[in-house]
Amino acid sequence: MKIAVINGSPKGEYSITLQSVKYLALRYPEHTFDVFSANQIIFAKEDKLTCLKEQIESADALLFSYPVYTFIAPSQLHRTIEIFKEEHFSLTGKIATQITTSKHFYDITAHNYVKENIFDLGMHYVRGISADMEDLLTKRGQADLEQFFEHFLFCVDHSLYLERREAPQRSRVDLSLPESIEKVEATFDTSALDVVIVTDCTDENSNLARMISYFRSIAPFSVRVENIAEYPLKGGCLGCFRCAVSGKCVYTDGFDTYLRERIQKASAIIYAFTVRDHSMGSRFKMFDDRQFCNGHRTLTTGMPVGYLVEGALASEENLRTIIEGRAEVGGNPLCGVVTDETSPEKPIENLVRELLYVMEKGYTTPANFYGVGGMKIFRDLIYQMRGMMRADHKFYKKHGIYDFPQKKWPTSLKMYLVGMLLSNEKIVKKMGNTMNDGMLAPYRKFLSKVKPKD
Ligand SMILES: Cc1cc2nc3c(=O)[nH]c(=O)nc-3n(C[C@H](O)[C@H](O)[C@H](O)COP(=O)(O)O)c2cc1C
Repeated sequence: MKIAVINGSPKGEYSITLQSVKYLALRYPEHTFDVFSANQIIFAKEDKLTCLKEQIESADALLFSYPVYTFIAPSQLHRTIEIFKEEHFSLTGKIATQITTSKHFYDITAHNYVKENIFDLGMHYVRGISADMEDLLTKRGQADLEQFFEHFLFCVDHSLYLERREAPQRSRVDLSLPESIEKVEATFDTSALDVVIVTDCTDENSNLARMISYFRSIAPFSVRVENIAEYPLKGGCLGCFRCAVSGKCVYTDGFDTYLRERIQKASAIIYAFTVRDHSMGSRFKMFDDRQFCNGHRTLTTGMPVGYLVEGALASEENLRTIIEGRAEVGGNPLCGVVTDETSPEKPIENLVRELLYVMEKGYTTPANFYGVGGMKIFRDLIYQMRGMMRADHKFYKKHGIYDFPQKKWPTSLKMYLVGMLLSNEKIVKKMGNTMNDGMLAPYRKFLSKVKPKD
C-alpha cells in the first residue's frame, strides 16, 4: 500500500512521532511511506504545492503523524488541513488514520479533531494510536505499534471503517443587534477592571465582530480588544523547548512579553473566534501554541474567561470539551460561551453579569475531572523533567502542585488497617454499619459545630 504520511510536527525530521513511522517502514517494507511535512506544504509556492497535491492524491492511504499540542495539534497541522480544503485536495474515498506521541494530556481531543477533518475530506477513518513519547523504545510500545498497523491493514482489507455519525448542522442567523444599548448595571466600583477580548476577527461585518461590539457596548467596565490576526507573530511554536529554563521564546517577535503584559495582566479574558475545521483555526492555534513559553504553569488561575463564538458550536462536542478542559486545567472560571446560533443578546448580557459576579466575589469552583486529571499528568511530568523544566518546577513547588499520593502516608496506613479487618470474614460479619459510621465520624463531628451564616 502507498501511504502518504502527513508529518504535522514542526520539528520535521527531528520529530519523535515520525520515528514510529520510520519503525513501521522498516518492519513492513512491502508498504511505502512517503513523508510530507506540514512546513513543506504550508510554505510551498504554487507549482510546488500542485506537485505535492498530486503526490498526496496518488496515495492509497493517509497517515497523520503529529505531536499533541495544547489540547489539539500543532498550528502547522491546522494550517495544512486548511490548505487541503482551500486547494480542494481530492482525497475522497481514501483511508486515513493517525499516530501521535504526547504525554496523553488531552490526546483524545487531538485525535477527535483530526478524525473530524478526515471525515470532512471525504476519507474513511480507522482508529489511530496515541503513544507516549517514550513508548517506541520499549518492547511493549513496539508491539502496540505493530498491532496498530496490522489492525489498520485488516480494516483496509475488510472495509471496516469508522464513518461520521451525523453531518454537522449550521443554523446561522445574520445578526442585527440593537442600536441604542444600555450598560449592564454593576453593583460595585468597576473602574479598575480591565477586560481583554482576544480575537482573530478580520471581518467587520461578521457576526463575530457584531458580538464583540455588542459585548463592548453593554459592559460596565473597560474592554480592550487584542487582535492576534494583526500581531506580527513570526511563526508557530517550534517545539524547541528553549523556553524551558528561562521562559524566553527563541522567536524575537516579542510575543512572550506581549502575552504577559497585555493579556495575562487583565481582569478577565474573552476569547472571540470563528469555528474553523472543528477548532478555533490555525491563527488562534498559533497563539495558543506560542503560550508554551509559559510552560505548564497555570499563571492565570482564578482569572475568569468567556467565549464569543461564531459557528455551529452546538454540533462541535470536541471543541466544547476543549473549551471546558482549558478552563478547568487553568483554574479559570468559565463565565459563559455565547454563539451566534441563536440570538446572542441575552446570552452576552448573562456573560457580562456572570463576569461581574466572578470578578467581584472571586468565585471559583473546584476542578472537575478535566482539571484534576490534566494537572496530575502535568505534576508527574514536571517532577520527572524538573532538571530541565526549571521554571515549571519552581512554580509547582511554590504552589503545592506536587500532591503525590505517596506523601499521604497516614491515609495509606489507615487503609492497610481497614484492608486487614475486611479480609477477616468473622470481623466483617460482626461489623454491621461500623464502617459507614467510621467514615462519617469526622463529617458528623464537623457538622455538629456548624452555625448559621450571619
Ligand atoms: C507547544 C507544545 C504543546 C504541547 N502540548 C501537549 C499537550 O497538550 N498534551 C501532551 O500530552 N503533550 C504536549 N506536548 C508534548 C508533545 O506532544 C511531545 O513532546 C511529543 O512527543 C513531541 O513530538 P514530536 O517530536 O513528533 O514533535 C506539547 C509540546 C509542545 C512543544
